[in-house]
Amino acid sequence: MDQKLKVNVEGYGAGLGLRRLRQNPLTRDLVREVHFGVEQLIQPCFVVDGISSREVVPGLTGTYRETPETLLRQTEADLKVGVNKLLLFGVPAKKDLNNFDFSFTAKAIESLKRQFGSDLWLAVDVCLCSSTEHGQCGILSAEGDHVENDATVQQLARAAVTYAQAGADCVAPSDMMDGRIGAIRCALDDTSLEKTLLMSYSAKFHSKFYGPFRLAADSAPKGAVGKAMLKDRATYQIDPASPKDAYLSSLRDAEEGADILMVKPGMPYLDVLAHLSKEIPKPWAVYEVSGEFAAIEVLAQQGLMQGPAAHVEAWTAFFRAGASMVITYGARFAQEWIKVSK
Ligand code: PBG
Repeated sequence: MDQKLKVNVEGYGAGLGLRRLRQNPLTRDLVREVHFGVEQLIQPCFVVDGISSREVVPGLTGTYRETPETLLRQTEADLKVGVNKLLLFGVPAKKDLNNFDFSFTAKAIESLKRQFGSDLWLAVDVCLCSSTEHGQCGILSAEGDHVENDATVQQLARAAVTYAQAGADCVAPSDMMDGRIGAIRCALDDTSLEKTLLMSYSAKFHSKFYGPFRLAADSAPKGAVGKAMLKDRATYQIDPASPKDAYLSSLRDAEEGADILMVKPGMPYLDVLAHLSKEIPKPWAVYEVSGEFAAIEVLAQQGLMQGPAAHVEAWTAFFRAGASMVITYGARFAQEWIKVSK
């Protein structure tokens, strides 16, 4: 035997040889640990009252503020590219302080379900921030210095039942009030809606990454308007430096009857997702929020990043960290992006 072979330390024979399994795409296919497909992605969409044509949302390529009619057309196009799970945000034209009308969103749900039936899995966001004059997620105290917990929960439960009756497969409260999961589960069960799923935004942080969304949903806290003295959502959303709060909040929501739990945002909270999905044996969703998605889009537009592959890399990180599903504005591009990033 050629003595030289034994001492060859160059190329794939070197050291522990971990590069052997990375050497070509087909070998990498076989050893990859994380797999996902478009069927695990949920596309958020907005339906807006009082606009005559659909409007672009800065930063959110491919996501629009839809009219009830354009929403139906967009959904038809989504189904054609394998996107059959939506998270709908309804934006009513009429805002109020404590008397809310959920019928605009309910009508949009009814039309989607009438047209697409069980071909479409429809989750609907439950919150008051698009309905209140001040943009806070609930009813303000008389002094305007805090959000009233129980009065808000009552309205949320009413919204959830209205959406479920209209045909939503899943209701998803994003408000962060205490006790809302239990109250909504009871309200659904009492109205014979025991089949409706409940997805809790259980680990929702007080984040600066929600910027583009708040333009789309017309839901930014408006500070001085009306009686609102609260300038942000820090008194109900979770502090980014308090992961134990996210754990306790998720545990409680699981106990109150949530079927699916969520971490939101995604990338800056991967540690939380990895930890909680291991500790609490429930299906975990992660929301790649508007600011995270837009950050990749903006870098790509500047020629500083390959957008499609970067989006797929972010989704891979979510599944690697323990997510069962990802809510992303890129769902409707996923088939294309997954293909080009291979
Ligand atoms: C409403 C709500 C928000 C998001 C989802 N539901 C905004 C907020 O809490 O301020 C953010 C989603 C995104 O940024 O994509 N409460």
